[in-house]
Amino acid sequence: MRIGIGNDHSAVEMKREVMKFLQDLGYEVINYGTDSTESCDYPVYGEKVGQAVASKEVDLGILICGTGVGISLAANKVKGIRAVVCSEPYSARLSRQHNNTNILALGARVVGIELAKMIIEEWLNAEFEGGRHQRRVDMIMDIENKER
Ligand code: RB5
Repeated sequence: MRIGIGNDHSAVEMKREVMKFLQDLGYEVINYGTDSTESCDYPVYGEKVGQAVASKEVDLGILICGTGVGISLAANKVKGIRAVVCSEPYSARLSRQHNNTNILALGARVVGIELAKMIIEEWLNAEFEGGRHQRRVDMIMDIENKER
């Protein structure tokens, strides 16, 4: 499985640790984020990883900024993306089982690396349950097809 990872300046260190963690678990990881701690704009990386997931260049995405909020908001503007920001494992698991999220966002200033690893593992190991949840996810995705 290929995972695309993206981050802004606030999350360079956590991104590196997360990449190693994922590679040790056997995932192929593609780095779309910045490797500089110089201030930059998180929407750039949210969009990059969003597009990589939407175009199936990668299977899933992980985004990290200070809070995980801005970068997930940006990714959610890409058609086909369901990005969730989580700071605990329960919502991360349910977000895949019920909402079929395809991007997980984390806040490097919110969670420590060990909690981040737990959240990531829970998210990656969960599977979409389909059934009634498929209908609801379809309803969400229909919103982006509506004319404005
Ligand atoms: C950058 O200072 C910070 O605003 C960004 O990393 C993120 O937290 C935005 O949501």
